[in-house]
Amino acid sequence: MNTAVQVVNTRIGIVTATDLEQDQSFTRTLGEITSPNARMQCRNINVWYANKQAIKDVSLDIGKHEVVAMIGPSGCGKSTFLRCLNRMNDTIPIARVNGSIKLDGKEILDRGIDVVPLRAQVGMVFQKPNPFPKSIYENIAYGPRIHGLTTSRTELDELVEISLRRAGLWNEVKDRLNQAGTGLSGGQQQRLCIARTIAVSPEVILMDEPCSALDPIATAIIEELIDELRAHYSIAIVTHSMQQAARVSQRTAYFHLGDLVEVGPTEQIFNQPQHKLTEDYITGRFG
Ligand SMILES: Nc1ncnc2c1ncn2[C@@H]1O[C@H](COP(=O)(O)OP(=O)(O)OP(=O)(O)O)[C@@H](O)[C@H]1O
Ligand SMILES: [Mg+2]
Repeated sequence: MNTAVQVVNTRIGIVTATDLEQDQSFTRTLGEITSPNARMQCRNINVWYANKQAIKDVSLDIGKHEVVAMIGPSGCGKSTFLRCLNRMNDTIPIARVNGSIKLDGKEILDRGIDVVPLRAQVGMVFQKPNPFPKSIYENIAYGPRIHGLTTSRTELDELVEISLRRAGLWNEVKDRLNQAGTGLSGGQQQRLCIARTIAVSPEVILMDEPCSALDPIATAIIEELIDELRAHYSIAIVTHSMQQAARVSQRTAYFHLGDLVEVGPTEQIFNQPQHKLTEDYITGRFG
């Protein structure tokens, strides 16, 4: 984990949203938007909700075996951008997305793309744990069954075990697989949701503030898990905790009013941001 990074309040004074809206200094994203080992390549992404633009010409790669943290003030478009990566904005009638997003070189914004397998390849973990109202076993087995990933009960049992082990939950639930998933603690439920995502063999896992409903101990467990999951998956995580971004991610992207202002190695973003807006945010002057 990235313990060398410290987030320090070095400035005083408050910048208002209006000041920043009037700040004309933003022209293009600072830092390296590409990854040498890209799993996803997003280029010139624009998103509108009806007439209001929420994402403005954002380009960013998500690399293999990397955790990319997305930070920025509330309403800057983090969740909107994350939802582009598995076409979840399709479920919002007034949302319109354009640009290009490639997963392993294949365009996913094409109209003809079947979003059901896409959302297995690019899975999502939400802010509030949302297990199905089914048993722990069925929470995991449901996805592989509908995607036809296993051919026998033995194989399915194995996949359930592997997924729960990988999510760090197996030892806590192996003796009560038939009990309701909703009966677990919040932190366990969130790991159950991660196991459910893992069970359908994703390549990318999207996490939108996955720890915001959890206590510090459950948060620490999930953060450790994120670090381990990186060995197998690419992860994009939205967080309001700069300490969390510093602990779990290798790259950090700073969003502001729909713009991707700056992206770079996490240590550099927190210790030597290049853009004033990034510096203002990480030093606590705004947001
Ligand atoms: N379903 C929606 N319909 C209309 N506008 C939306 C919708 N979802 C988001 N927006 C608008 O798009 C902008 C970006 O919202 P988004 O939820 O992506 O921000 P965010 O950075 O995730 O904020 P937060 O940190 O509060 O979660 C905001 O102005 C928001 O009001
Ligand atoms: Mg959000």
